[in-house]
Amino acid sequence: MTHKSRTSNKRLHVLLIEDEPSDAEIEIAELRHGGFDVTADVVETGDQVRGRLGKNSYDVILADYSLPNFRGMDAVDILREKNLNTPLILVTGALNSETAVECVKQGAVDYVMKDNLARLVLCVRRALEDTRLRQERARAQEQLAHKVEELARSNCDLEQFAYVASHDLQEPLRMVAAYTQLLAERYRGKLDTTADRYIGYAVEGATRMQALLEDLLAFSRIGRNGVTPTPVDSNTAIEEVLRNLAITLKEHNVTITCNPLPTILADRFQVVQLFQNLIGNAIKFRGRQAPSVIISAEQHGEEWLFSIFDNGIGIASEHKEFIFKIFQRLHTRAEYPGNGVGLAICKKIVEHNGGRIWVDSELGRGSNFRFTFPAVLADKAGKKEDYELSAENLVSR
Ligand SMILES: Nc1ncnc2c1ncn2[C@@H]1O[C@H](COP(=O)(O)OP(=O)(O)O)[C@@H](O)[C@H]1O
Ligand SMILES: [Mg+2]
Repeated sequence: MTHKSRTSNKRLHVLLIEDEPSDAEIEIAELRHGGFDVTADVVETGDQVRGRLGKNSYDVILADYSLPNFRGMDAVDILREKNLNTPLILVTGALNSETAVECVKQGAVDYVMKDNLARLVLCVRRALEDTRLRQERARAQEQLAHKVEELARSNCDLEQFAYVASHDLQEPLRMVAAYTQLLAERYRGKLDTTADRYIGYAVEGATRMQALLEDLLAFSRIGRNGVTPTPVDSNTAIEEVLRNLAITLKEHNVTITCNPLPTILADRFQVVQLFQNLIGNAIKFRGRQAPSVIISAEQHGEEWLFSIFDNGIGIASEHKEFIFKIFQRLHTRAEYPGNGVGLAICKKIVEHNGGRIWVDSELGRGSNFRFTFPAVLADKAGKKEDYELSAENLVSR
């Protein structure tokens, strides 16, 4: 026969709300028999309950349903008042099942009949386990909330830094750019050729830095000035983009096929920016044939799935995520001009509006840039016929 040593038993500190000393004894004995190392405070009035709960911390409360000067369920209110989560089990002589269910609804974790005390140990074990799990969950949630808050703060600091840096650096840089340009104009040919070359580098560097700062500023502005979203007809946004790009479209003989697009809830300027970056890229990274861009959208449940499909140089699969990072690009500026900010801006705009953006592509086989937007507006506005815009009719618009 094995003998369970007392020290291996689980300690259990109980508040017993009970006016019958012999019942209290039996309950404690039952718990000890079930393997608990019990210490108990026995009380029978509301003041005593309040006093004990104010001073001690209990693992469990066992409460008689009705006492001469107190109702066991009143202890639930006291727990709430004191913001305590101690589990309370009703231990009672007589209780019909409706009352028992009502008590559980009101906050008792369980109930045990005095003529069936064998259940008591099981109930207490379950209550302790539930409490432990609840506490663990609460702790995990608290940690998560803390991390989220920390992340939000550091993100906010970073954005603030990017904004201030790009904004405040513009002014001194304007001076550098203006004066190096002045130097170039006034002294070209008056010093030696090396000096001319150096001045040329300085002008180029300053101009390039201005362009970088402008893009960085544009990037950090998204989401800063809490813009109020309004219904934006994507069809007219595309028309605006095509007007902005008219010269490039004509120059490269681009064909744009635009299927009917939905109205979305967003900031109009950002929608134009988004499409313009994607269509601009489709033309910039063109292949040997004349560029063709197909724009479409279809509804998938709660969201619109947009597609900007080109016949350009394509993207190798290992770079599909990399290109959405700020300042990251796959070519030198000599091959293709640019700062590598466009797709980072697209990603920020889409994600700020609750969507996702990615690219399906293979090297040499064109690219299909896709992004989602929440479908919050019921109607599919602007159901126009498909229309084809060639460089010709664009410019004549
Ligand atoms: N339609 C496209 N076809 C092929 N490559 C693309 C396309 N769009 C973007 N890319 C690749 O992704 C990189 C990042 O794009 P982006 O952020 O717009 O910067 P940028 O246009 O200044 O290079 C580009 O440099 C290019 O390598
Ligand atoms: Mg670009």
